[in-house]
Amino acid sequence: MSNSKINIKNLEEVKNSLDSKSLKVCVIGIGRIGLPTALSFAKSGLQTIGVDINEDLIQKINSGVFPLKDEPGYEEIFKQVLNDKTFSVTSKIEDAVPHCDLILLSLPTPMDQNNIPDYSALRSVATHLSDILSSDSLVIVESTIEPGFIEDEIIPLISKSNRLKIEENFQIGVCPENANPGEILHDFTNLPRLVGGINQNITQIIKLIYNFIFSVDLIEMPDCKTANAVKLTTNVFRDINIAFVSELSIMFEKLGIDTMKVLEAAKMKYNFQIHYPGAGVGGPCLPINSYQLLNTARRTGVKLNMIESGRKINEKMPEYVVELISNAFDESNQILENSKILILGISYKPNVKDVQLSPAKIIVEKLQKLGVDVYLHDPFFNSTVIFGLETQNNLENILPEMDGAIIVTGHDDFKNIPITSFLKMKHPVLVDTRGIIDPVSTKKEKIIFKGLGRGGF
Ligand SMILES: NC(=O)c1ccc[n+]([C@@H]2O[C@H](COP(=O)([O-])OP(=O)(O)OC[C@H]3O[C@@H](n4cnc5c(N)ncnc54)[C@H](O)[C@@H]3O)[C@@H](O)[C@H]2O)c1
Repeated sequence: MSNSKINIKNLEEVKNSLDSKSLKVCVIGIGRIGLPTALSFAKSGLQTIGVDINEDLIQKINSGVFPLKDEPGYEEIFKQVLNDKTFSVTSKIEDAVPHCDLILLSLPTPMDQNNIPDYSALRSVATHLSDILSSDSLVIVESTIEPGFIEDEIIPLISKSNRLKIEENFQIGVCPENANPGEILHDFTNLPRLVGGINQNITQIIKLIYNFIFSVDLIEMPDCKTANAVKLTTNVFRDINIAFVSELSIMFEKLGIDTMKVLEAAKMKYNFQIHYPGAGVGGPCLPINSYQLLNTARRTGVKLNMIESGRKINEKMPEYVVELISNAFDESNQILENSKILILGISYKPNVKDVQLSPAKIIVEKLQKLGVDVYLHDPFFNSTVIFGLETQNNLENILPEMDGAIIVTGHDDFKNIPITSFLKMKHPVLVDTRGIIDPVSTKKEKIIFKGLGRGGF
């Protein structure tokens, strides 16, 4: 790649560089979100280089192996852009960044054991950029960050070497990612995106670029911090609402009320937004996003009681699931110690291969502490070891050895299991935490059944 000469502040020049495919793009962090992003830019004909510190990933991609098997549509794009030579990867950031006009950061923003957000990848890359970013580049942060992080941390880090001055010879903005794993191609090309730039001109430039690549609606925000505030608000809204229905569902169950019937009827009201109860909330977003806002609250000296309570409830749900199976065992005159229990579904959400912060892990650990011999079955995890346990590929073969089963993830595959299959277990004890089993059918088959929030059947 030759050195860039595009004036990134000039809308007309950026437009021409898109039309002539001369805008050069670097995506730093080519994981779950960054790789599909880089592939989308490369597919539009722009020279795109992906940077990642994971050498295995770089080697895999360089040998033509697509690493995201559960992202429909992207394997074909991957082959096409490799063939067209618009996409390449490297682990050497200094080989990529200085030659590019547009630098996208899709770096991880996890949290530590104390639930404190960990921005070390972003901080380290921003520090590196202060030495290697070429003049007139535009940095766009796609990672989920707290409001104020760009202004308070990223800009000072990039400006550290005194070579670059914000709005003069480098520009910055955010375009927070909101795609769902497993549906990224669909979401990238359908869901509106938030855009916030360091000034109105940069916001317009980012809008132009993202519209060129994804053809989606772009929601203009007054600044970076407002865009990030919106991103966190939408996800934390879900975390809190799941906590709300999960807590309610425990009470409804005791009252002999079926929570699923409550929710299906409640959603008929024009301003009710349905959320479902469950075994807990995991994944790379919701729990972390709540802790990100709690971290912002700490920094600003504010207390966010609602988010704190929501987190407590969601984190207690795995314990309640263990209570359900324990009650079901009592009813079938079994004891948990030395029993064999099958966990159906280990992903944090349906139909994806992802166990990040999955409540299944906590449930497994709690059962093991009670002396249970735990088995795992998940169609997305065949012949592998997860949470220190070998996964079971064949459900029909493993069921006859089990004393009970718990549905933890509502994978579509599980909806097709005939209810009579559970009769093959040594003891027909079943817990459903996702509302996918019809409680009436379990009664007919004389299965000892506990459904989270399912009273009154
Ligand atoms: N996964 C999702 O569903 C999702 C959805 C919306 C937003 N996000 C946000 O997008 C961001 C990225 O998430 P992800 O799920 O793609 O993470 P990921 O862990 O799948 O990918 C991050 C990649 O960055 C690489 N990396 C780490 N440190 C690096 C460094 N210093 N230099 C270069 N590469 C480095 C890692 O090796 C990894 O490949 C996060 O902020 C996340 O919150 C994720």
